[in-house]
Amino acid sequence: MNVYDSERIAMGLGSLHYEITPSIEKADLIIVNTCAIREKAEQKVYSFLGRLAGLKKKKPDLIIGVGGCVAQQEGAKILERVPYLDLVFGTHAIGRLPGAIQSIVSKKYRVVDTQMSDEIKEPDIADGLYDEGKVTRFVTIMQGCDNFCTYCVVPYVRGRETSRNPENVIKEIRSFVESGVKEVTLLGQNVNSYGMKEGLCTFPQLLRRINDMDGLLRIRFTTSHPKDLSEDLIHAFKDLNKLCHHIHLPIQSGSNRILKRMNRKYTREIYLEKVDQLRNTCPGIAITSDIIVGFPGETTSDFQKTLDLIGTVEFDGLFAFKYSDRPNASAVRFENKVIEDEKKERLKVVLDLQDQFTVRKNNTLKDSIQSVLVEGFSKKQNRINNQNNSQNTQWTGRTSTNKIVNFFDGDDTDSRADNLTGRLVDVRILQTFSHSLWGEINGKQPISIGLRGEKSYVA
Ligand code: 5AD
Ligand code: SF4
Repeated sequence: MNVYDSERIAMGLGSLHYEITPSIEKADLIIVNTCAIREKAEQKVYSFLGRLAGLKKKKPDLIIGVGGCVAQQEGAKILERVPYLDLVFGTHAIGRLPGAIQSIVSKKYRVVDTQMSDEIKEPDIADGLYDEGKVTRFVTIMQGCDNFCTYCVVPYVRGRETSRNPENVIKEIRSFVESGVKEVTLLGQNVNSYGMKEGLCTFPQLLRRINDMDGLLRIRFTTSHPKDLSEDLIHAFKDLNKLCHHIHLPIQSGSNRILKRMNRKYTREIYLEKVDQLRNTCPGIAITSDIIVGFPGETTSDFQKTLDLIGTVEFDGLFAFKYSDRPNASAVRFENKVIEDEKKERLKVVLDLQDQFTVRKNNTLKDSIQSVLVEGFSKKQNRINNQNNSQNTQWTGRTSTNKIVNFFDGDDTDSRADNLTGRLVDVRILQTFSHSLWGEINGKQPISIGLRGEKSYVA
């Protein structure tokens, strides 16, 4: 969500004729977009701001602003703590940012704007896209959250759940597709409740409309709350040809007692049932999840239940976090906090256990042929390009199940002439690692580039 917000910030600043610079020393304006989900993310903001003190000293006209969730949470307190800061703007103030910058430039004000509203300020598509040529983009379909999980800061820093009008979502995606985008990831704290409050359309209905869009190849979404995962959405994985076979379904804990204290409103049995439904409807679907270890009151027996659940589901991937107290979240006041060393130990156990499943799952893909949407040169290829060596080209992309695949195009004659970026290609997987797969284009194949009736051939 912060990536999407940063893009909107950049677009707004484009209207004031700012451009992106690759070098922070050259910047006239620095915007730090922040995350408050865990304490560590918040600490990073202050250490990063500390490093900007020297730049401001050298260049007094430099404008430094802080946006995002920490800005929303702390407001004017950040200005007090960081005397050389010019601007603090909250999660609902992105649309007002250009005006704030103009005031700072002309009147030398310091500005704090943390006003929230239940109305969504639509991005001004006419401002143009600052980074054309991207294959895949995020699109926020809703803001805020009404779930109030007891550990979570989001409802306080992003406000009440509000869905964007489907027409505006479709219009934005269409403009992305016209600029060459082939894949969109729809974002919301709980996409499953999209449109419900406002009586717009349901999330599966929105997906169907996006699926019909010419030129778009793939659709992803995140995040889905297990309590609201509907049968309709599960069936969308089978019915919609562009919907990728991956779902991120955060479980948080395998213990019903802890799930209750977290206010998650589902049990491990309900979760496991949904996993079964997903796998029965869409065999091979990748399922990833989030886990919090060391939630207040989590005993070793609760923790064992989490490990047991991880073993039962065998996730494709897992994000695991040590619980951290967040301002306003009610778990701050819960008793029986788990000590730091114990949280650290539990985190390690979870990650080690999951690693085995990730490796095993990836291994099963060896020798299989995967359809990969090519996002561009691999990191390694970028290094080679910088050295001006000519070799086979290495590309990177993702499978429908969201696994990263790096591959050779297998054509050693004039490989770089064929730009595969934005195309769906079949790749034979030759080697598997824990975080990526390695392969080679499967023979001289026709490559679908997503435009109706159009085909091109490798080599
Ligand atoms: N402490 C640790 N992890 C948290 N998350 C959210 N709040 C906290 C917290 N206070 C994790 C959850 C969520 C993910 C985005 O971050 O697992 O799904
Ligand atoms: Fe936070 Fe829960 Fe909302 Fe997710 S559903 S954003 S964890 S309150």
